[in-house]
This record gives sequence, structure tokens and C-alpha cells, in this order.
Amino acid sequence: MKNTFWNPDREALKRKDLESLQYELLIDTLKRSLYSPFYREKFSSYGIDISDIKDLSDLQKLPFTTKQDLRDWYPYGFLTVSKDQLVRLHVSSGTTGQATAIFYTQRDIETWAELMARCLYMTGARPGDVFQNMTGYGLFTGGLGFHYGAEKLGLLTIPSGAGNSKRQIQLMRDFCTTVIHIIPSYALRLMEIFSELGLDPKKELHLRIAYLGAEPYSEEVRQRVQDFYGVKVYNSYGLSEMNGPGVAFECEFQQGMHVWEDAFIVEVIDPDTLEPLPDGEVGELVLTTISREGMPLIRYRTKDLTRIIPGDCPCGRCHKRIDRIQGRSDDMFIIKGVNIFPIQVEQVLMSIPEVGTNYRIVLKKEKNIDQMIVQVEVTDKVFIEDMRHLQRLQKKIVHELKSEILVTPIVELVEPNKLPRQAGKAQRLFDLRKEG
Ligand code: COA
Ligand code: AMP
Ligand code: ZN
Repeated sequence: MKNTFWNPDREALKRKDLESLQYELLIDTLKRSLYSPFYREKFSSYGIDISDIKDLSDLQKLPFTTKQDLRDWYPYGFLTVSKDQLVRLHVSSGTTGQATAIFYTQRDIETWAELMARCLYMTGARPGDVFQNMTGYGLFTGGLGFHYGAEKLGLLTIPSGAGNSKRQIQLMRDFCTTVIHIIPSYALRLMEIFSELGLDPKKELHLRIAYLGAEPYSEEVRQRVQDFYGVKVYNSYGLSEMNGPGVAFECEFQQGMHVWEDAFIVEVIDPDTLEPLPDGEVGELVLTTISREGMPLIRYRTKDLTRIIPGDCPCGRCHKRIDRIQGRSDDMFIIKGVNIFPIQVEQVLMSIPEVGTNYRIVLKKEKNIDQMIVQVEVTDKVFIEDMRHLQRLQKKIVHELKSEILVTPIVELVEPNKLPRQAGKAQRLFDLRKEG
């Protein structure tokens, strides 16, 4: 097994050499993409000839790819290889019409693991470390993405997954966990549980590194987690469409996340005009995969808002850094590390005959537990029924929402016409989490 994941021929290139490498990989990717039904049709309708892409700046001549394209061509429309070459599939939550599917060949899994191992190595994790991976396995990419990278690097990896807090703490104590991967909201939640148990992680545990990602969080949260657990926190960014985690990661200097530019070409655009923005300006992050075999994505609009941090990083890596994610240019929200579109909630509610036309989603943080409250107006007829009927309906809505969005909401049934109505476009989402 390789024991170093610092590769100066990839990570410390001169910009000119990095760009020649990117161009070469981009042309390979474009040629490969023509095997996919989506890009074949898209490029032909835009009259795109790959031989016109003479240098990296010509990337801007190519059309964007969106999540809606992934939905419209679900499940196989982006494949560039035959199905027998695929070894993995991750699917987002959502019913038909909303879900997206991402496929990986064996080589894609290896490249992903290599990039993840590079992230972990960059932040000082080494064989001998005990790594507890506390994010969702299964269809979430966070669990398996980190898992394969950690094993490749040679860390003793505990696939503890999400939840089950007392067991998480027991594992940390019994096996002297030194490195954790944890969703920020869960890191805060777990603090409460440590306090309830009267345990001080700084005294009782051996933690030294924590990777936090999958949802937005502030510098203040980083500081709280660092102080409480006695760890150094590194920000980790990724999205399932780009493999999962391992797209951008902080180095020891914690001054923005290096995007692995030998695997992804990074652009930031104005989400309204779709024009590229100069380094330093906040806009929407657009990524092009240049190392993916089974399902390349070209100029993918992530909808995540950030900026490229101008200047060089003191660590010596040449790969550009992006700032902490500052929000989204669409209405997706994330709770407990799970992505949700309000339309998913609406579709579930509107399929239930007893539900009226008005509803609200309120996100709150109480005692460090994130809560999603769905207030639903029911029809006149239901409200005069007995209590048992209302309870059954409430349970049914919880159950149907959970199976669509994966988190358990609190559902409150409300009398018809009792929820406030606004003039113009109804505001459905009220995110009060920052207010405590
Ligand atoms: N990550 C991990 N565990 C979490 C969590 C989070 N973000 N938020 C809550 N939990 C814990 C809770 O503390 C609880 O454990 P405990 O009772 O032993 O303390 C347990 O998960 C269930 O919590 P609950 O609030 O009832 O869960 P839910 O039904 O609303 O949500 C989860 C279910 C937690 C399993 C789901 O939110 C999840 O899997 N989150 C992780 C998603 C993820 O890994 N994303 C990464 C994407 S790459
Ligand atoms: P998923 O496809 O489920 O892995 O979710 C990806 C999305 O999670 C991204 O598009 C971001 O919106 C969000 N995300 C991932 N990592 C971070 C991070 N470090 N900070 C803020 N948001 C993040
Ligand atoms: Zn750096």
C-alpha cells in the first residue's frame, strides 16, 4: 500500500502545467461524453464540435448541465459506459421526477478514494489513527466516500454511521478514536449528550482531528467544536453529482478549501447572467469533472454560492481555494445533513386528500437539535372529525414525509385558513435555526 498521498506532480504544479494537464483531461472527457445520450443530443443541438475547444477558456462555449437535466434523463441518460462496467450507484432522495442517480465504474471508485485519501493525508491523518465515520452510509455519499479514502490511507476505520449517540461515545472511548467525520449539526447535538453524561471529551477521549461538512456552518460553530472536543476542525465540501465528498477540502492553514483541480475544473458564475465572475467575487460554483469515466458532468451548476479565494495558499498547493459555502441559489435546504426541496414536501402533502391548500415549513434549533416543523392546514371536514382520526392523519403525514425526505418532521395540523397568508408568492420556508 502507498503510504503517502502527497503528490507534488499533481498538487504543486506551476499553473501553466496544471492548465495543460486540465486541457488534456478535458478533451478526453468531452470525447467520452459523446457516448452519453444526454451530451450527444445536447452538443448536437448547440452545434458543438469538440475540435473547436482549443484551450481551457473555450470551456465557456459549452452549455451548462443542471440538476433538472439529471432528473429529466434519469436514470441512465448520462452514462458513457455499458452497464456491465458499473460497480456503484448512489441515488438522491425523492420520488420519480425528483431523484438523481450517480454511477461509478471501478476506476471512478478508485479515483474518488485517492482524492479522499489525499484530503485526509493533507490534514495530518496517518496510519495508526482510528477514524470514526459518523455520517450516513447507504445511499448518502458521505459515509462510503470517506470510508474508502480512510482505508486507502491505512486508517483503522469504524463505520459507525449516523445517529445512536451513546454508542458513538462508547466507540470513541473503547477504541481511542483520534479522527472523526461528523455533520456540524450532529457535532453540536453530541455536545449536549456529552454534557448530560458528565463527560469531557478533552479529558476522556483522544480526538485530534474532525472533518465537518455536508451542510453550511459558521466559523463560530467551528470554534465551538474545536474548543469542546479539543480537535482541529477541517471543512469538507462535496456533492453526490461530483462523486460525493473529496471535491474541496481545507489544508492545515484552514483558509479556504482547495478544489482538486486535476479532477475538477472550477468556475464561479453570476447565477442571474450566467457570466463568469473574477476570483474573489461570490457567485454560483460550476464544476466540470475531468477524471470521471462512467458519468462525466460538464459545467455542472452546483447552486452553491461561494467565491474563489485570490492568491496562493501558504501550504504550497497550487489548487485554487473556495470559501466556506455561503448559501444556495435555489430553494434547497439541508437539515441533519439531508438535502430537501420544498417541492418534495408539497408533493407529499398535496397527495393526501385531507390536506388543504396551505402549509409552512419551519426549521428550528432547540437544545442543539435541529427540528423541521411542518404546519399543515387540513380540510373543514377533517377538523370536525374526532381526535383519533386527527392523530391517525398526523401520523400518516409524518410517515409519508419521512419516506420521501428521510428525516422525521414534527407535523402540526391546523384549522383551515388559520396559517398566515402573504400577498404574492407564498413563502413556505422559515429557517429560524440561526436565531437559536
Ligand atoms: N448526523 C448523524 N446523526 C444525527 C444527525 C446527523 N446530522 N442528526 C441527528 N442525528 C442522530 C440523533 O441524535 C439520533 O441519535 P440518538 O437518539 O441516539 O442521539 C438519531 O440520529 C436519530 O435522530 P432523529 O432526529 O430522530 O432522526 P431523523 O429521523 O429526523 O433523521 C437521520 C434520521 C439522523 C438518520 C438522518 O438525518 C441522517 O441519516 N442524517 C445524516 C445524513 C448524512 O450522512 N449526510 C451526509 C450526506 S453526504
Ligand atoms: P449531497 O449531494 O447530499 O452530498 O449534498 C451536497 C450539498 O451539500 C452541496 O451541494 C452543498 O449544498 C452541501 N454541502 C456539502 N458540503 C458542504 C460544506 N462543507 N459546507 C456547506 N455546505 C455543504
Ligand atoms: Zn493550502
